[in-house]
Amino acid sequence: MLSGKRILLGVTGGIAAYKAVYLLREFQKAGAEVRVIMTPSATRFVGSETFSSLSRNEVAVEMFNDTDPGESWTKHIHWGEWADLYVIAPCTANTLSKIVHGQSDNMLTSTVLAARCPILICPTMDGEMYESASVSDNISQAKNHGFHVLEPESGYLASGIEAVGRLPEADAILEYADQIITENRKKGPLSGKKVLVSAGPTREFLDPVRFISNPSSGKMGIAMAEAAVRLGGEVTLLKGPVDEKETERMAVESFITADDLFTLAQNHKDADIIIMAAAVSDFKPASSSKEKVKKEDSETSIEMEQTPDILQWLGENRAEKQVLIGFAMETANLEENAKKKLRKKNIDWICANSLTGENSGFHTDQNEIQLIGKESSKEFKGPKKEIALQILREIFDKATQ
Ligand code: CTP
Repeated sequence: MLSGKRILLGVTGGIAAYKAVYLLREFQKAGAEVRVIMTPSATRFVGSETFSSLSRNEVAVEMFNDTDPGESWTKHIHWGEWADLYVIAPCTANTLSKIVHGQSDNMLTSTVLAARCPILICPTMDGEMYESASVSDNISQAKNHGFHVLEPESGYLASGIEAVGRLPEADAILEYADQIITENRKKGPLSGKKVLVSAGPTREFLDPVRFISNPSSGKMGIAMAEAAVRLGGEVTLLKGPVDEKETERMAVESFITADDLFTLAQNHKDADIIIMAAAVSDFKPASSSKEKVKKEDSETSIEMEQTPDILQWLGENRAEKQVLIGFAMETANLEENAKKKLRKKNIDWICANSLTGENSGFHTDQNEIQLIGKESSKEFKGPKKEIALQILREIFDKATQ
């Protein structure tokens, strides 16, 4: 049920911290990707290495890291952006109080303030503490502030007494987590919108074993499609011949050639939003042989003809209120060439991509994109999966304000 969802798990310093290890495993078994943040006192109960081994990711504890001073302190922003849901389990009375009062004295609480996703708090403590007036007030305040709270269960506590204060079973936490993510997407800026995204290269065949193509991995296009799902869109992905797998639930239709893609795009021409991230070949062989061309029979030159410019066709035949987003990969004069394409193809936004950047281009997980609109321009840099979300938020959060 949580397949492909991104869970940020916050672990605070209570004895139930050991149960967070099992919780992490249960999230993973349900198909979620999990990253972990611990408070320094949580590491007294369970070593951070346990969580980093299981999550196959580094665990954030300290705000400042002497060995990696440039990058690590902004993790609360990036991880808060990355997650579909931030689950704080167990959440001690101390951290609950800090959250309610907006404190940000460690990575876990700073991420609470920075997160753009919903937050689920699982208060877990001794029965006496849980029943105290301050904790009751803080729980009510947390709910008023829009946090989701899963109240603790009754049972044997570490103190030896039986009372309310236990961390609920993993099943209950997972079920609530799934419900929160689903509800949150319904409120996203793309909720109710049909979104068409194309990704990957085309192949133009000379004969059954040879084709003209490009090294597009489809990663950026698939990241755009996943981001659109996370913002509530009903997404159809037109997917070229790539190995990259989409993790979110979406309809997928496959293409090989530019002509295939043109047919599919025409079938979906009334989508509310169209994102053309596919690397479409501009030319195809004027003729292609049904049989493999033998060396001794072959010509040394190939006659080519142009493929349809799909985005241009979509721009000329656009539906009312439709938003068209294109990509432009350039090796020189990035901004100038991208702006020309924006005007010529009659589209709303273009994601300009320099092939010369250190961290951009085909096959990398990172990218540098300049999002250019008719009146504005903004740069995005970082993992493709993160900047895809930032780009769509930049376009559609503004549109719905
Ligand atoms: N595109 C398209 N159909 C084509 C070629 C490109 O729909 N036959 C789309 C791409 O998916 C992209 C945008 O147009 O969103 C720009 O693609 P790009 O290859 O950068 O530009 P071209 O228009 O092909 O121009 P050039 O190759 O001369 O830079």
